[in-house]
Amino acid sequence: MTDLMRICPVGPEDLPVLRDLAEATFLDTFSSQNAPQDVSAYTSVAFDMDKVRAEYENPHSRFYFARTGSDIAGYLKLNTGPAQTEQNLENAMEIERIYATRAFQGRGVGKRLMATALEAAQEAGVDWVWLGVWEHNQKAIAFYAHQGFEPFGRHSFRLGDDVQIDVMMRKKIAQD
Ligand SMILES: CC(C)(COP(=O)(O)OP(=O)(O)OC[C@H]1O[C@@H](n2cnc3c(N)ncnc32)[C@H](O)[C@@H]1OP(=O)(O)O)[C@@H](O)C(=O)NCCC(=O)NCCS
Repeated sequence: MTDLMRICPVGPEDLPVLRDLAEATFLDTFSSQNAPQDVSAYTSVAFDMDKVRAEYENPHSRFYFARTGSDIAGYLKLNTGPAQTEQNLENAMEIERIYATRAFQGRGVGKRLMATALEAAQEAGVDWVWLGVWEHNQKAIAFYAHQGFEPFGRHSFRLGDDVQIDVMMRKKIAQD
């Protein structure tokens, strides 16, 4: 499967698909462990079409799809500079979102998307790639650790009325 997978920048014509995928993968990941009203309060704002479009048009953010055949198997959102959700990290790139769809999890999609992020970080000349992950998302934390990320802090993330703790993890980028 991996050999046939392509990582492609999301085009403007893909925005409705990106919005739907972003909402669906978020719901699939977090609905079962959170109150429905908190989840819907978050998704109605975060995945509003105008908000997704504004994020897409931010010159400091980049979006990629993992495509295989006619399927979209996952997506990635990268932030640099002022687009990052934390501003006190010097010379860094944030992986704000990295998702494989349920049907494709465990089949190399996350690894390919992560490789794309690390290549983009190398090209951008940053020293660190970092991300925030919900402290209860043990599967993702284990995946990031496997990819060489280490915890370095915590920050809060608001899901509706629920103030949650995200573990911040980072990986050093060796620049030549
Ligand atoms: C976390 C996620 C991105 C990982 O992607 P994936 O496509 O399932 O993982 P891959 O198949 O690419 O795995 C790549 C490698 O990581 C390892 N790995 C994957 N999940 C792992 C886990 N939970 N624990 C330890 N290692 C893991 C694999 O064994 C594989 O190792 P290898 O390269 O040595 O063979 C994906 O499962 C996902 O989208 N989950 C739901 C959404 C989510 O939680 N996103 C993160 C929000 S912060």
